[in-house]
Amino acid sequence: MINLNFYQNGGIPVIFSSDRSKSELIDWAKNNTTFKAEQAEVYYLPNPESGGLILAGLNLAEDLTFDQLRHLGFKIYKTATTNKIGEIEIMMPPITEKCDFQIMRSIAEGMIQATYKFDRYLSKKDDNPVKDFTVNYTPNNGSAEKMQAEFNKLKDVMDGVFLARDLINQTSNYVYPETLAQAAVDTLQPLGIEVAVYNREQIKKIGMEAFLAVAQGSSKEPRLIVMKYQGNPDSDQFTGLVGKGITYDSGGYSLKPSDGMESMHCDMSGAGTVIGTMYALAKIKAKANVYGVIAACENLISGTSYKVGDIIGSLSGKTIEIGNTDAEGRVTLADAVYYATDNLKVNRVIDLATLTGACLVALGEEYTGVITNNDDYYQEFKAAADKVGEKVWLLPNDKKFTELNKSKVADIKNVGGRLAGTITGGQFIGEFVANNIPWIHLDIAGTAYLSKENDYLPERATGVHVKALVELLEHQ
Ligand code: BES
Ligand code: ZN
Ligand code: ZN
Repeated sequence: MINLNFYQNGGIPVIFSSDRSKSELIDWAKNNTTFKAEQAEVYYLPNPESGGLILAGLNLAEDLTFDQLRHLGFKIYKTATTNKIGEIEIMMPPITEKCDFQIMRSIAEGMIQATYKFDRYLSKKDDNPVKDFTVNYTPNNGSAEKMQAEFNKLKDVMDGVFLARDLINQTSNYVYPETLAQAAVDTLQPLGIEVAVYNREQIKKIGMEAFLAVAQGSSKEPRLIVMKYQGNPDSDQFTGLVGKGITYDSGGYSLKPSDGMESMHCDMSGAGTVIGTMYALAKIKAKANVYGVIAACENLISGTSYKVGDIIGSLSGKTIEIGNTDAEGRVTLADAVYYATDNLKVNRVIDLATLTGACLVALGEEYTGVITNNDDYYQEFKAAADKVGEKVWLLPNDKKFTELNKSKVADIKNVGGRLAGTITGGQFIGEFVANNIPWIHLDIAGTAYLSKENDYLPERATGVHVKALVELLEHQ
């Protein structure tokens, strides 16, 4: 737990290297310790009488980003708590032309980020001696009440991020369609979000044949999860958030090698992000109207599985040739996106999916790949993502690529071949957006689940885009 008190004193002082009045001390440390005052470098200088000081590298270069401040906050928390320090004092030096609220939010977010742990399955938990961490924070400007309100809001959003992470990090023997649906009910209903859960029979009645084809290989029943948050009753405009909800992806008959299968409980990251986002929106009482849609199932092998070469139907009426059972996400999303845009009649739609390994090849674990049918909408999303420090990269939605998804025997094929895999995957989903409404597809295969920690993001689930979606939706 992190508490921020504004305009109060007490605790171990944090000395920033950009603080001119402390230059003698910083120079001494540079000459006599390992501290080099590099950006986001943090060093504890103990003193048995006073308790000591925390030195923090902050270089006020023109290109200093809020993301670097998040990283700095992360390091300050880690350094303090590993040294058993439970209270610190921050007097924020001026950072030219940067908003004081945003500076506070960035540093505080870094600290909150540093508290995340996924130790659910460890019998012996790594005991942190510091349970409650207090920061006495003095900004350059800004009323204490407004600062406190901003900080409380930040905590709510981060709870949404952590909820997403917890759902994604749990393995598929814990999180499967039924338990994922139950988690949505348990976490969202108390906040006033309507959650409807449909079972196999009901999904069949709705007509989601494509979704059911993927689900049919597992003895675990699929679930369609539909969530409704109406924070702006004056408007009838809704945004649809559709999350890929494959709770385990073995590849099916187009079986994955063991290496590629190991982390495939993360294939419901899109779903986790949607649930985390809806949670945060309700907590901060955002003035937004949102439908969340998740088609949750497992992609397994059995005597009832769908097979390579099958031709299946879909909710939209389009037929789909299955060229590869491992391209299952787009098949379930075809029905989920069509359901959001046709049945629910949302006005804008964003889908999130750990869709393609090709996205990892192109953009690594650093950038989310994006396809859109509406550049203005993408620019809005991009601005929100930039603000919260989530990197996204637009790929060309060129109709030339669409030809690759053509089938000779069905209306469309679920694979487009080796070339431009992230684009053809996204475009396949785009074919199921009804009424040609603005649509953004986010391929989070690289960014949702990390093979190793990255600045302030942990190994495994990141909860990526909860922050950007909240930022986008609360201002729409
Ligand atoms: N869930 C995978 C994509 C994935 C890979 C997510 C690595 C996270 C990390 C997806 O269902 C898949 O297997 N896609 C195939 C598509 C191909 C058959 C066209 C892929 O990327 O190989
Ligand atoms: Zn797959
Ligand atoms: Zn998948």
